Amino acid sequence: MTTPQPSPDSVQLTADGQLRHFLTLDGLSRELLTDILDTADSFIEVGERAIKKVPLLRGRTVVNLFFESSTRTRSTFELAAKRLSADVLNLDISTSATSKGESLSDTLLNLEAMASDMFVVRHAQSGAPHFIAASVTPGVAIINAGDGRHAHPTQAMLDMLTIRQHKGRFEGLKVAIVGDILHSRVARSQICALNTLGVEEVRVIAPGTLLPSDAEHLGCTVEYDMEKGMRDLDVVIMLRLQKERMQGALLPSEQEFYRLYGLDRSKLALAKPDCIVMHPGPINRGVEIESAVADGPRSVILNQVTNGIAVRMAVMSMAMGGQVTERVSRLGEGQP
Ligand code: NCD
Repeated sequence: MTTPQPSPDSVQLTADGQLRHFLTLDGLSRELLTDILDTADSFIEVGERAIKKVPLLRGRTVVNLFFESSTRTRSTFELAAKRLSADVLNLDISTSATSKGESLSDTLLNLEAMASDMFVVRHAQSGAPHFIAASVTPGVAIINAGDGRHAHPTQAMLDMLTIRQHKGRFEGLKVAIVGDILHSRVARSQICALNTLGVEEVRVIAPGTLLPSDAEHLGCTVEYDMEKGMRDLDVVIMLRLQKERMQGALLPSEQEFYRLYGLDRSKLALAKPDCIVMHPGPINRGVEIESAVADGPRSVILNQVTNGIAVRMAVMSMAMGGQVTERVSRLGEGQP
């Protein structure tokens, strides 16, 4: 007999439905996702002030614990915590005791002994943030910054914020995710968020070798031919080939992949005229996207990066103490 596993909800939500941790979007309601987007919206204005700080996490300690490389996610989590006035510790794993053989649990116990309030965790192992959340002291929050191929919930939420800003709604939208779906934690979280928020269609476009075997059960339609798949799109999200997670040759060549699945101007012309182009980064120009498209007028790739700070501020402040939207709007400009 197998031991029943607690649902993600019971781990990441309090009894009254507030965020305790942020590990996955699975099982979270449309109301909660909308609340995160609304809270993030209220933080956008903080990023536009001369003094970009609010005191919501003053006196709290946030530890960035990145066991995998990162540019955007790590720096926007750090900026988000600093703009909330938290003390931030960035642990460089390559020079930490992990490289001397210390286990993840022991590293955590030591960091908890320093009275940390929140760990932002990126790990190559799917499930690592859940494992930490299950054992951490009550009151300490765990935020998943990407685990293996499993989930990247803050990335998906910053993507949702970007879509809402540009399209004003989710209802009726057709959104495609293109490329390496199989290895992408971003795609899994995006598919979940888009369905929860009620888009009309989530379409994945990829060669069979880069699709999970359960693709049809993920809540999306599947298209192997990109030229057909681009039709009627409101949003196209491109993904990087996650070579670090690939075992064996899944593609004939990068040139062949670009020819069939790379987003260039002629393929983009098949979508709706106002279709926006997104990418979580890092982009590989000439592999999954043409430079003229990445830098073109329909690209919102850098808006995604900016929105990452507001979304991470929202998730961190909600996990540390509930609803903050009203408090943010009441905080005076430049208040330390
Ligand atoms: C993604 C990731 O790490 O999962 N990047 C990111 O967080 N912005 C996607 C990728 O690495 O291709």
